[in-house]
Amino acid sequence: MHDNVKFEDIKTLTYLLSHAEIDEQMLYAQARSLASQHCGEEVYLRGLVEISNICRKNCLYCGLRRSNDQVKRFMLTESEILDAVLFAYEQGFGSVVLQSGEQHGFEFVRFVERIIKLITQKTNNQLTITLSCGEQKEETYQRWYEAGASRYLLRIETSDPLLYSEIHPKDEIHSYNTRKECLFMLRDIGYQVGTGVMIGLPGQTTENLAQDLLFMKEQDIDMCGMGPYIVHPNTPMAKNKDKILSPEQRLKLSLRMIALLRILMKNINIASTTALETLHPEGRLLGLLAGANVFMPNLTPVPYQEKYSIYAGKPTLHREQVLKKIKMLEKQLLDYGLQIAWNKPGNPIHYQLRNKNDINIS
Ligand code: 5AD
Ligand code: SF4
Repeated sequence: MHDNVKFEDIKTLTYLLSHAEIDEQMLYAQARSLASQHCGEEVYLRGLVEISNICRKNCLYCGLRRSNDQVKRFMLTESEILDAVLFAYEQGFGSVVLQSGEQHGFEFVRFVERIIKLITQKTNNQLTITLSCGEQKEETYQRWYEAGASRYLLRIETSDPLLYSEIHPKDEIHSYNTRKECLFMLRDIGYQVGTGVMIGLPGQTTENLAQDLLFMKEQDIDMCGMGPYIVHPNTPMAKNKDKILSPEQRLKLSLRMIALLRILMKNINIASTTALETLHPEGRLLGLLAGANVFMPNLTPVPYQEKYSIYAGKPTLHREQVLKKIKMLEKQLLDYGLQIAWNKPGNPIHYQLRNKNDINIS
């Protein structure tokens, strides 16, 4: 439908994000078809393990911010992490994501390094490891890369420096520029780099979101995880809870963002995030049908999942329920000619093309 439209201009993107009369179903179908054409008719699985909710930061929107003293802080043990990771491996997930709040300090750096090495050993280097542990020193990123991690997720949260400063404390550890520099560092080291934004933040305009899409294109990212902003009652930003878009509007905006990013960046991996499901029971399926191609079930042991509450209403599932859910999704996807990619790492085609030396083509 939009074949003759030049997408890469802010006005067109803003229009496509905001205009009521856009045929959404057609937009999603077009994005899905591009995903199938350029990334395959497959959905990649990543087992998410939330290794620690300890965080040195104080982001104004996040339930894990360090000033939230209602949170019981945890750090999984080596054997708890390995147990979850090996479960993912045995079930054929192909890839895991280790996520934590932002922690510095040598002990944490060494702990993560050791875990990466253990996973690599115990899975014969057959499980791709993604990290999402915030901003770190270049030498830390390098260390973890050499230990065997090959992907890194670091959301820019919003590409607008002004909005960034409004949703973070104004101090040197919450710096837009540092975050952007980290994305460059990760790319230079050789990681597959993922970023993303929150959608429907108070004060965020559709021009901001259009700019976010162009930011991801300019940064030439390999992966994206973006999802709706959801209020956490115990955060400073909860005072603006009446000023944000309705859940339905945030869901639709998030789906339009996924579809437009797919049209802009045909061969990257885009995750259909859990936050979508908080707004709609089929939210993650809708994301996949709007052009996403990655599904990231949570394998954190249940008692800890509850303590990793970034936003309100984050679902909690036992492993058996997770497997059941994947089987159900697998069935639903069949109706659209899509399959779950069991036992495949699912490296982004985009990365393979920008780095011809990458021999791990799945
Ligand atoms: N709503 C939605 N996403 C959130 N995140 C943090 N707080 C919220 C919230 N209230 C996201 C951020 C962060 C990731 C770990 O979780 O984008 O990068
Ligand atoms: Fe920490 Fe990330 Fe939450 Fe910010 S968004 S407080 S860095 S866990």
